[in-house]
This record gives sequence, structure tokens and C-alpha cells, in this order.
Amino acid sequence: MDSSAMLSKDTTWCFFALPAFLGSNNLLDPFVLFSLFISLLILALLTWAFSPGGVAWKNGRNKMGSVPIPGPIGLPVFGSLFTLRRGLPHRVLASTASARAGLNKQLMAFSLGSTPVVVTSEPVVAREILTSPHFADRPVKLSARTLMFGRAIGFAPNGAYWRHLRRIASTHLFAPRRIAAHETRRHADSAAMLHAISTEQATRGVVTLRKHLQNASLNNIMGSVFGKRFDFARDNSEANELKEMVAEGFELLGAFNWSDYLPWLSYVYDPYQTVKRCEALVPRVRRFVGGIIKEHMMNESSGACDNGDFVDILLSMEGDERLSEDDLIAVLWEMIFRGTDTTALLTEWAMAELVLHQDVQAKVYQEIHHIVGNKNITDAEVAKLHYLQAVVKEALRLHPPGPLLSWARLSTSDVHLSNGMVIPANTTAMVNMWAITHDSNFWEDPQEFKPGRFLGGGDVDVRGGDLRLAPFGAGRRVCPGKNLGLVTVNMWVAKLVQNFKWVQDVAKNPIDLAEVLKLSCEMKIPLTAVPIPRNHFVH
Ligand code: HEM
Repeated sequence: MDSSAMLSKDTTWCFFALPAFLGSNNLLDPFVLFSLFISLLILALLTWAFSPGGVAWKNGRNKMGSVPIPGPIGLPVFGSLFTLRRGLPHRVLASTASARAGLNKQLMAFSLGSTPVVVTSEPVVAREILTSPHFADRPVKLSARTLMFGRAIGFAPNGAYWRHLRRIASTHLFAPRRIAAHETRRHADSAAMLHAISTEQATRGVVTLRKHLQNASLNNIMGSVFGKRFDFARDNSEANELKEMVAEGFELLGAFNWSDYLPWLSYVYDPYQTVKRCEALVPRVRRFVGGIIKEHMMNESSGACDNGDFVDILLSMEGDERLSEDDLIAVLWEMIFRGTDTTALLTEWAMAELVLHQDVQAKVYQEIHHIVGNKNITDAEVAKLHYLQAVVKEALRLHPPGPLLSWARLSTSDVHLSNGMVIPANTTAMVNMWAITHDSNFWEDPQEFKPGRFLGGGDVDVRGGDLRLAPFGAGRRVCPGKNLGLVTVNMWVAKLVQNFKWVQDVAKNPIDLAEVLKLSCEMKIPLTAVPIPRNHFVH
């Protein structure tokens, strides 16, 4: 045998040499073991200290391109977990990126426990990430996986199954003709909402808007997806069961779960009891959604007509296209989570700004009065209300419902950026849309609510075409519900302003624009205001 090969293979020499080196002849000598432990600790600390981005970026992961990705080192083991937990993550990340000189705004690496993450606060890099075919997957949190979302559109990995779901949803749920076909029902939901607001106004004098918007929003999605609506004014046990399940699901999906980033922690620390609660929720969801599916099967309703709901469509699929019952439940259930809170919370932000900016509210009312008059507003008329649309865009700019674009992306292979940086495979990427929409390099007076900025040549495509304001994301995983979301919010704001003048209850309920980031970014203190009925009431 080649003696040089023997030499290079003999790696055990250090076990014999080390004790001798430390003045002992036994490897199990406590002193030797202690020295070994200290050496390993020092090695780990040195590796951490010289890894920009922190623990998850060791071994030069951040230096794969001609330009290294900068980033904070964070703490050993935990990385930047504690820093992010200290405040609102989008604000913390924005100020960290601006405080650190250099390229941090373009791309910043950090570690969430053992998870390597990058975040951009810059539109060019944001576009490259969101439109890259190698960033078409999402990381799936423990709660999302346990709640069966792994097979739903938002979390299914990029591939044939996901493409199939997107195609069905784009054609049959989100296509303009489908949205138009549900217009009458949307009007019915907003009529119920306006009545409930009138009733509360008559009894309390003020109205807390969120629950009314959430009810309308739930019915909006339940109607177009499940073909089912509820009368929230009556005590309805089925509606209450649904609301309870939705609230529990939102809490579980929105909660920060430490073991998503430190998997070993799940054995010793699970303050939210995530797995237990998810496992308790799943059978209730199966029963509820499964029950609706059975009703549809018994009714044998036709999925082909435009008025049909999404369940009808999915049930009408034949052969390979047909989804299993579990997949059906996952897809349908996800729509409630994606579609209800976002629209309700965005409307609440828009209304809060209108209460604070009475001049803007007066202009919205004037525009409605001029174009629509005192009659029920149609979708076609909403499309002509340019100032109203600018108000909603400005609300999206100042208060994007997903400030970090909600659900991150995951790289499936190394991604080369035009600035020379390379994001390695298996990295979670976030776009700090909030930082971009509050950056004075892209927006004049970024902290001010000025809808006029979108008029007279200043218009911006918010549907993913212009990354200075892309609250629905961009690229192949852009939000498929963006048109439905915009149509709904524009119509609600128009109707709320057409029917009431909204003023602040300065003494008892001053408006506070503080945020809290759950599944979406919401007003920490829900908006309570005084709706003064206009002298006509249309809905
Ligand atoms: C104001 C309203 C809404 C906002 C701001 C919003 C925002 C977003 C964002 C930021 C994403 C991630 C996009 C990306 O990764 O590039 C997303 C994905 C998604 N949204 Fe929305 N959304 C809204 C309304 C809706 C509605 C009404 C529905 C359905 C009823 C919906 C269904 C979805 C789905 C299914 C996905 C996952 C798409 C995929 O991964 O392929 N959204 N949304």
C-alpha cells in the first residue's frame, strides 16, 4: 500500500497527541476534556464573530459573489431573533439597514436562529428577488404546515401542482368576469355593513369599524369561494363557529413561534402550544369545510357558470385535474386567511387617515357626489373615481398590510444579483416594502398622507409593475387576489364616505396610528369614530 495514502488517512493521531500536549496521558482526563470544551467554544465564537450575518452565514455563505452581503452578526445561537422581537420587525430592519453604512439597504444578511435570511429595502433588488424563478418557493412555518397549508396555493412548492392551482384560481376565482359576476352580492354585503354601522351609531354614538369590516370581508370571501353568506346581525351558531375558527387560525399563523427558527426549542418551550392548538383546530376545519363540500356535491350545482362559486369549480374538475378532499380543504381554507383580514385592515387604515384628514375626505365625497350622485355606487363608477383610488393607494403606501410582504420567499438555488451579490440556495428572502414606501429617495414627504401624489402623471402601478409600491408582491407568486382586494376596498371606502361623514371622537377615542404586526399589520387600537349620516342614505 502507498505509504503517503496511509499517512493522510490516519486522522487519529491528534487524540494521542493532544493529552501529551496538555501534559496528560489520558484523553478522559477532566483537564483535557475541559480544555477541549474551551477550545471548541472559542472556535465557535471566532466563527460567529467573523461571520457577517451571524451564525447561519458561517463558512463564507455571504461571500459567494464578487460583492459580499453585509449584515449584523447578532448573538451566538439566536442570531438577530431578540433584536427583531424588540419592536416591529419592518421598522427594526429598516432602521438597522439605514444605520449601517454601505450596501445594507440593497441587501442585508441576518440569522434567525439557524435560518439564514436576507432582506432588501431597495426596489431594484426587490424586483430581482421577487421575479427570480429561483425564488418561487416559500418557507413553511410549523403552524402553516400543521394547519394543512402546505398543499394550498400560498405554500405549495413551485411545480406542477402549484401551477395547476394558480391556473384554476386565476381563471375561475380572480378573473375580471368572475369578480364582476359577484358584484351584486358584494353590494348586498356592504348594505348589511352600512346598516350595522347605522345601528351602532344610533345606540353608541360612535362606531368601532373593524368588526363590521371583518364581517363584510368574511361574507365577501365566503360568498365567492363557498357560495355561502351569513347574517351576522342574528345569533347564528354556524357563523360564530366559523369566526372562532378563523380567529384561532389567525392567531396561530400570526404568532411568532421560536421553534420555527430553533427547532430544538420545541421540546422544552412552546408558550403558544402551537402544535396542540393546530391539531385541535384541524378536525374542526375539516368538519366545517368538508360539510360545505358535501352540500355542494348533493346540490350538484354547475361550476361552469360565472355565478357559480369556487367550490363548484373545484368539484367540476375531472380526471387528473381533480383535487383530493384534503387538498380541496387546504385550498379553500387558505382563501379565508389570505382574503379577509387584508381587505378589512386596509379599509380601516384608509378610513383612519380620512378621519384625520378631513380635507381629503371632503374631496373624496365631492368626487363621489359629482360622478355618482346620491345613488348606489357600481364597480364601473368606482373605476372612474380617480381621487378615491389615489386615497386607497396612499393607504397602501403608508400602511402596507404585509410590510415585509407577509409570506417570505425561499431560494431553491444560488441567485446571482446584478449588484454582484449571490444569495445562496436555501435562504429565506424578505422584501421590506414598508422601508421602500417610506424612503425619501423614492417618495417626497414619505411620512405624509398625500393622495394627490398619484394624480396628474404621478400614478403608480400597485399590482407588481412598480417595485416602489408593490404591496401585493410581484413575479410569479404575486398576490392573485389583488384585483378582488382592490375592487372591494375601493367600493367600501366609497360607500362609507358616501353615506357618512366620519369625524374623530377626540375626547374619548383619539385616533392612534400605532401598529401591531400579526398576520397583517393592523392598527394597534382599532379605529373608533363618529359617523354622521349624510342627509341621504344609499347602499
Ligand atoms: C388588500 C388586499 C391584499 C393584499 C395587500 C395582499 C398581499 C399579498 C402579498 C404581499 C402576497 C405575497 C406576494 C409575493 O410573494 O410576491 C400575497 C399572496 C397571496 N394572496 Fe394576497 N393580498 C390581498 C388580498 C388577497 C385576497 C382578497 C385573496 C384571495 C381571496 C388573496 C390571496 C392570496 C394568495 C392565494 C396568495 C399566495 C400566492 C402564491 O403564493 O402563489 N390575497 N398577497
